[in-house]
Amino acid sequence: MRRAVIAATAALCLTTRAASAQAPSVGPDTALLSLVRWAFPGQSKDIPSAKPPFDSVTLLHVPHSARTFSMAQAKNVNAPPDWYPRTHPTMPPSVAHGEKGRVWACGYCHLPDGQGRAENAVLAGLPAAYIEQQVAAIRTGSRHSAMATYSPSIRMRDAADSATVREVRDAARYFSRMRARPRFAVVERRTIPATYEAGGLYSERAGADSQPLGQRIIELTDNLERHELRDAAGTFTAYVPPGSIVAGRRIAQGKSTDAATCATCHGPALGGLALAPPIAGRSPTYLFRQLIGFKTGARGGAASAPMQKVVAGLSVDDMIAVSAYAGSLRPSR
Ligand code: HEC
Ligand code: HEC
Repeated sequence: MRRAVIAATAALCLTTRAASAQAPSVGPDTALLSLVRWAFPGQSKDIPSAKPPFDSVTLLHVPHSARTFSMAQAKNVNAPPDWYPRTHPTMPPSVAHGEKGRVWACGYCHLPDGQGRAENAVLAGLPAAYIEQQVAAIRTGSRHSAMATYSPSIRMRDAADSATVREVRDAARYFSRMRARPRFAVVERRTIPATYEAGGLYSERAGADSQPLGQRIIELTDNLERHELRDAAGTFTAYVPPGSIVAGRRIAQGKSTDAATCATCHGPALGGLALAPPIAGRSPTYLFRQLIGFKTGARGGAASAPMQKVVAGLSVDDMIAVSAYAGSLRPSR
C-alpha cells in the first residue's frame, strides 16, 4: 500500500518536473548551458567497455583487494561490490542493498565507504543533517541538475524519490562518519588526450589524436575497468586550463572578484562548517556542476540562498578556476 502511495507521489512529481523541463528555456541559461555542456558528458556509443549482458563467469580483481567479483556482480544495483570491507563498519541496508525493484543501494553510486565518483558525489565526511537536507531537496525538486538530460542526476532523483526517510537517515549517519580520501588529481594542461564520454565522466581514447583543452575541465577516470568495477580506490584526473589553481585561490580568498571569501562559510581549508559542506579535495567537475546549478537556479530553495549570491559575482572562467582550486586541496575530513 505504502509503496503504491510512494509510486503515485513519484509519478506526480515526475509529471510536474517533465512539464517544467519542457517549458521554453529562456536566453541566458540556454546560452550558459551550451557553453558548459562539456561538464555533463553522456555515454559514447563506441566505448569498448562492457555492455549488457555482463559476464557473470570471469572473476575479476582490482589491485589492492584480495576479493573477486564478475562484471555482472559489479553491476548489481542491489548488491554492489564491496572491495574493501575493512575500510568501513557494517553498512546499513540502504547503503548495501536498497530494495530490488524499488530503490538502488546508495553504495552502488557513492561506493560502500562514501568515496563517490566524479559523476556523482563524495558523501564521506558530509554532515548527516546536510545529507538529509539535500536528499529532501532533490526529492521535492528544489535541487535538480542544471542539465535535465544528465543521467547520473536522473538516477539520483529516482533514489531520492524511492528511499524512505528512515533509509536516508541511516545512510546519512553512516556516510557522515567516513573520511574522504584524496582521489582527484588536478592537472593544468593546454592539450589533453582524446576522450570517450564514459557515463557522466570521461575516459581516455587510446590511439586517437590529442585535443586542445580550451576553457573546460575534463575529468577522466584513470582506469575505466576499475571504474566499471566500482573500485573505491580508483582515481580521477581533472585537466584544467593553465593558471586555474592560482586564479581559483585568489577568488576563494576574495581577492579578485566580488564573491565573498569561500572560507567564511566553508571553513578553514574549505573543510566544511555547519551546513556549508566541505569542498576541499572533491571532484572539480562535481563542484563546477553545482556552481552552475546555483547560477541557473536549478539548485534553488532557501538553503541555497547564500550560494546564489556568491555565484552572481562569478563568470564561467571564475567557476572553472575556483573548482580547480578547491579540488586541488586535500580533503580535510
Ligand atoms: C544511481 C546513482 C545514485 C544512487 C543509487 C544514489 N545517488 Fe546520491 N547522488 C548521485 C548523483 C549523480 C548525485 C549528484 C546529483 C546532482 O548534483 O545533480 C548525487 C548526490 C547526492 C547527494 C548530494 C551531495 C552533496 O554534496 O550535496 C546526497 C546527499 C546523496 N546523493 C545521497 C544519496 C543517498 C542517501 C542515497 C541512497 C538512498 C543515494 N544518494 C543514492 C547518484 C546516486
Ligand atoms: C555565505 C556563506 C557561503 C559562502 C561565502 C560560500 N558558500 Fe558555498 N555553500 C554555502 C552553503 C550554505 C552551501 C549549501 C547550499 C545548499 O544547501 O544548497 C554551499 C554549497 C556550496 C557548494 C556545493 C557543495 C556540494 O556538496 O554540493 C559549492 C561547490 C560551493 N558552495 C562553493 C563555494 C565557493 C567556491 C565559494 C567561494 C567563491 C563559496 N561556496 C562561498 C555557503 C557559502
